[in-house]
Amino acid sequence: MRVADTVTVTPALSIAGALRVPGDKSISHRYALLAAIADGRSTIANYAPGADCASTLSCVEAVGAIVSRTPAARENEPPLVTIDGRGLRGLRPSSAPLDCGNSGSTMRMLGGVLAAHPFISTLVGDASLSRRPMRRIIGPLSQMGAAITAGPGDRPPVTIHGADLAGIHFKPETPSAQVKSAVLLAGLQARGETSVLEPAATRDHTERALVAFGAEVSIDPSTSPKTGGRLIQIKGGQRLNGAALRVPGDLSSAAFWAVAASAIAGADVSITNVGLNPSRSALLAVLRRFGADVEETLEDQWNGEPVGRLRIRHGAMRDLVIAPEEVPEVIDELPVLATLGTFGGSITVSGAGELRVKESDRIAELVAGLRAMGADADERIDGFQVRCGKRLTGGVVHARHDHRLAMAFAIAALGATGPTTINGADAVSVSYPAFFDDLDRLAQRNRAPTGTRA
Ligand code: S3P
Repeated sequence: MRVADTVTVTPALSIAGALRVPGDKSISHRYALLAAIADGRSTIANYAPGADCASTLSCVEAVGAIVSRTPAARENEPPLVTIDGRGLRGLRPSSAPLDCGNSGSTMRMLGGVLAAHPFISTLVGDASLSRRPMRRIIGPLSQMGAAITAGPGDRPPVTIHGADLAGIHFKPETPSAQVKSAVLLAGLQARGETSVLEPAATRDHTERALVAFGAEVSIDPSTSPKTGGRLIQIKGGQRLNGAALRVPGDLSSAAFWAVAASAIAGADVSITNVGLNPSRSALLAVLRRFGADVEETLEDQWNGEPVGRLRIRHGAMRDLVIAPEEVPEVIDELPVLATLGTFGGSITVSGAGELRVKESDRIAELVAGLRAMGADADERIDGFQVRCGKRLTGGVVHARHDHRLAMAFAIAALGATGPTTINGADAVSVSYPAFFDDLDRLAQRNRAPTGTRA
């Protein structure tokens, strides 16, 4: 599916309907990586269709996993991904650098997998990924015994001389699910035990995925962010078994519709088969605080991941404050949450300096884009504030090759008085290639100003 580079989004009267969102990006990466080092065959249904997860598949293929795609058994689903794994520490050197594209998750977690393989791997990325910090994985993986070099400022390319690793006890400075996962994936293949003491809980898909592949992971329930962290322990040398997996819909993609439905009068949106893992669903509490009517129905567990249905309706619009301790759980939703302040109420976010090292500097670029559309918004060193004054006018914005910015600007555009042209809109193909098609289906425009998206 090819998305136009430039898309014009016209205002909507409201937003309504039911949809499914693409498979979860975070979970898809983990299933592909674990399948590659499992014994035997894994099948992954509803694998995320975006470019990021395609990068993970091409990387694991380049190091020896056998990847194939067959038509899905269910209508409107991406092809079933089948991976024949090479077993623990069974991957082979790639003849060329491993291209992680735009995907920080691929680079950091694949780094953890390859650190335990006794050969040299070079991991490269696109211009955006080449600006992102890698010290955070280089530190712990070097401590485990790998020799790792990177470009100036510890940015990609990253060259890993894999080794026979030893387990460590690791306490990350910044909460990061990617870093935790890199260490756990290395720890699975290391001597002895590896533990991670998270300063604040982050998404726990790696822990759940390891269990789905047959590994034992211990999580100390007595620890919490208040008592110093969440402790996760894994014993090295556990062999994984190939598994039949299905990926829930991505709550971070559903977030765009959930925010639009919360913000626009008369809105009513239902999303089915969506992942409702509590380590990802803090967004729903934030939307309730804003005043939305959020119905969450848990229906099933797929490979240890809770799945269900969401219905979001517009309600009140209150001022929102996102405190630093909430940030790790809504980190990917902050760009679209910022748009709430353009519809009504205001939003103030602090303790979110990590946003500056995502696919773009999400504080600077988000605020610049919203201001170009007429918003009253300011940057803070570690956050931003968006205050509701008059309606946005629309305008011309640039997504800066950042998928979540492209989609956040499109949601803000629904509430403007005029059209918004988004340059670099094709960035949505990183996580949600059908985003603009779904926008056209949900947006109610029968009495809206003329013009459609290009
Ligand atoms: C992710 C973790 C988060 C998130 C990213 C996906 C993951 O990054 O922003 O989009 O799948 O583990 P950090 O681990 O850097 O916080």
